[in-house]
This record gives sequence, structure tokens and C-alpha cells, in this order.
Amino acid sequence: MKINVRAGKIEKHKTDAAIILLFEDEKPGTAAERVDKALGGMISRLVNKGDFTPKRGEVHLLYPEGRVSAERLLLVGMGKRSEFTTNCLRQAAGRAACSLRSAGARDITFIIDGVVLDAEELGQALAEGSILGLYRFVKYKTSKENGLAKDVRTITLLKESLGGLKAMQKGVKVGEAIAASTVMARDLVSSPPADKTPTIIAAKAKEIARQFGLRLQVLEKNRMRKLGMGGLLGVAAGSAQPPKFLIVEYRKGGKKPFIALVGKTITFDSGGISIKPAENMDRMKDDMSGGAAVLGAIRTAAALKLPLNVVGLLPVTENMPSGSAYKPGDVLRTMSGQTIEVLSTDAEGRLILSDALTYACTYRPAVIVDIATLTGACGIALGNVATGMLGTDDRFKQKMRAAGEKTGERVWEMPLWEEYYEQIKSDIADMKNTGGRTGGVITAAALLSKFVQKYPWVHLDIAATAWTDKERPYTPKGATGIGVRLLTQFLRDYSEKLR
Ligand code: BES
Ligand code: MN
Ligand code: ZN
Repeated sequence: MKINVRAGKIEKHKTDAAIILLFEDEKPGTAAERVDKALGGMISRLVNKGDFTPKRGEVHLLYPEGRVSAERLLLVGMGKRSEFTTNCLRQAAGRAACSLRSAGARDITFIIDGVVLDAEELGQALAEGSILGLYRFVKYKTSKENGLAKDVRTITLLKESLGGLKAMQKGVKVGEAIAASTVMARDLVSSPPADKTPTIIAAKAKEIARQFGLRLQVLEKNRMRKLGMGGLLGVAAGSAQPPKFLIVEYRKGGKKPFIALVGKTITFDSGGISIKPAENMDRMKDDMSGGAAVLGAIRTAAALKLPLNVVGLLPVTENMPSGSAYKPGDVLRTMSGQTIEVLSTDAEGRLILSDALTYACTYRPAVIVDIATLTGACGIALGNVATGMLGTDDRFKQKMRAAGEKTGERVWEMPLWEEYYEQIKSDIADMKNTGGRTGGVITAAALLSKFVQKYPWVHLDIAATAWTDKERPYTPKGATGIGVRLLTQFLRDYSEKLR
């Protein structure tokens, strides 16, 4: 798909479909007004009669029948001006692109006069919204006749004047890079577990590393044993697939300290011996979404050439039951030296993360951010709307919150008070890996906090946001690719601060 930025008049612009963004409480932009005039006031009539109300989420398709060069016109409701955010624009782009693809358009044009927003931000939002909205996971569909509409090939952002064109073009490039990484993450998360074993994930990381000039180390079992990674090895014990520990470095920050990104990468979580119920177990292929987000964020950091040092750490394994599997009652000795009593083999994420967090500390990082599909409890607490956030550093949590607002990948904080630590005390080891039914998000994070030493740390629980059963404006059903845009924004803001 190609995204162009052009200056020109809409009346003379040949396109399969022109998109007009309309606010509820504001006059249309000058270009839209002229289109309206060319159509003999059809658009204002529609609005005035109430046949089309420009509420957010509303769209209306029109055929101008030759009165302007566009073959179709799509009116898109933007809601109230006072409630307008960049995310609204991303949503509008996703909705518009999707409904025009269904209509059969291959070449679509956004008329962007009338949207008051920084030109770069606007280009980025429209690129992200339309690419992510048009996303489909079709790799495993062999028949072309299963009702899939043809892909949109070109998207044009059309502006009346030349002002801001360069900035918008730059924004488009940024948006394309971020969207491509999100698409990569979605593809990985959607992939069947058999096609994303730890070995295959390592190969995928190698491909990204080669493409973007990253340094990649893949630690095998013998190295893990030498490092004492008993958490990762314990979880991997039941699997026929060998685990991997991936270390991906992006170094363009000179002598600056590293930012460490740690991603839970369970390529399939059966629960192990504490096996999960059969219903919806297939969903547990998404248990590597944290790792996918980390790979995606580093990929964008490299694509955007951010002046940063970033290390991505991915403990990668399946969690399977078998004769060699670890068991409830086992005690694992982690890389940090601390021991964990296993009460449930299904609370495996925190076990593999304990080693990855300890490894992260060896970088003496400025901050550690971990991202994990860690607890079902997170969905109970926050629904599918927000990612759970906990951590030890208020400044970085504030930065993450801001990145969440900007990207629409919102986070909501939960407390890490010392009372909660009672729940993970073990009678025989340093801690146990479950804290009972209450406060599940928090007790999981409490365990993780024991492995970050003195380093500022932010934990993101994406268990309920990595996947969606309901389609959203720029997020089709399935893997959301959550975390890529959030972490990328966090990194971008951090690099701005450094400059
Ligand atoms: N991967 C799951 C968490 C999860 C659940 C993600 C539902 C997405 C949807 C995690 O490994 C897990 O099984 N957590 C347990 C922890 C419990 C045993 C303390 C859970 O949430 O039930
Ligand atoms: Mn589990
Ligand atoms: Zn899991």
C-alpha cells in the first residue's frame, strides 16, 4: 500500500473515493464546502435533514455521479470539536479505509482541510489509522473466493495549499514505520503456536536484526543453565521445543544508559500440569504478545533512528504438561539466587520474567519496562480497555501514562503497597508464585518487583488488551499488536527529553 501526500483541488482529483471529515459543531472545511456546492448542496441537505449526523463513528457513502472527479464520497462523522483527539483521527481513518475497501475502492483520498492539527501528527495518525484498520490476517486462507474484498492500493492525503506538506510527509513516514511494526506484532501473535515455536521466534528476531542492523544474541539451554535461569528452565522443562533467551540490542545512543524492554514470550500457555480448561485454550497462543511488542518497539526505534540505547529481552518458551514438566510443589532457583515455590504451573509468566528482569539489571539500565500477558485478573479489573500498570518509579509511570493517552493504548495504574506482599510469602521458599484469588494483577507484579533491584521499573499487564473479540475502528478482531505503539511513543518521548 502506498500513501501519498499531495496539494491540489479535490474537484479535479481523480480517485475511487474521497473522504470528507465532518464535525458535529463546526462548518466543513473549504474543500468540503466546494464539493457540497458542486453537488448542489447535497451534503448540507443530508446533515440539515438529519439523514447524516456527523457523530463519531457515523459514515455515509455518496455517489457524486460525475459532478466532481471522485467516483465516491464518504462522509465521516468526527463528533464534537471539543472532544477531538489524535485518536479520533486514527479511528476515522480506520473506519473510512475499511468501509471503502468493502465498497470496492482501491484508491482513496482523505481531504484534510478543516482538520486543525499539527501537520506531522496528522500524517502519522492517518497513516497509522488506515494501515491498521485495513489489516487482515489472511496467511492461512488458501481460497481467494472467501468474500475478501480487494486491498486498497493507494491512499492520498490531499491538501489545498502547500503549507505543512513536508511535515505531513514526515508524519506519514513515521506512521508507516510504526504501523509496519504493529502489523509484524499482530502477525506473530495471530500465528498458530506450531508456526512460532521458540526456535522460529529466534529466527524471526534474526531476520529483524539483519534488516535493521541490530545486535542479536540467542542463548540456548546450556547458557541458561550456566546463568542459573531456573525460572525459564523450569517452565520449559515440559516442552519438546527448546527454549530460547533473546537479547536484542539497538545502540544509537552513544554513552547513554540502556533502556531495557522485557517481554513475556510464552508461545503457547497450556497451563502446564495445572492445565487450563479446554474452552478457549487456543487463545493462549497470544501469550507471547509481550515479546512481540518488544520486538516491534525496537524495530521502530531502529527505523526511526532514535538516538537511544535499547535492549530487548525475550524469555521464549512453551508452557506444556508432560512427563518432564515442572510440577506444583517444585521450588525453582532463579538467576537472582532467590527461590520460588511453584503452586501453579499456570503462573509461569512471572517465573520466566524473573530471570529476564535479573538479566536486564546487568545492563544497569535507566529504566526497565516489562510487558506481559500476565494475569486473567487484569481483564476482570480493567476490562479490555486499559492495560494494567504498576511499578516503582513515578516519573516513568507518568511518562507511560502520557504515551498511553497519545497513542490510544491507555494504561491504568494499580498500587503496589507492601500489604500485598503478604500474599506471596512461602513457607518453604523465598516466595510463592501465586497469591490467591484476590488482587491477582498486583500480587503477580509484586513478585516481579523482587527482581528489578534498585532500577526504575514499569510493569505493563496486557493480558486483556493483546487480543480483541470485537472489532474496533483501527483494530480488527484478533491480535491488537498492543504495546508496539505505546512503547514506541515512550521511547520517542524519552529521546526527545535527552536532546
Ligand atoms: N497467560 C496467562 C494469563 C492470561 C489469562 C492471559 C487470560 C490472557 C487471558 C497466565 O500465564 C496465567 O495463566 N495466569 C493465571 C495466574 C494464576 C494461576 C495465578 C491466571 O490469570 O489465571
Ligand atoms: Mn499461565
Ligand atoms: Zn501465561
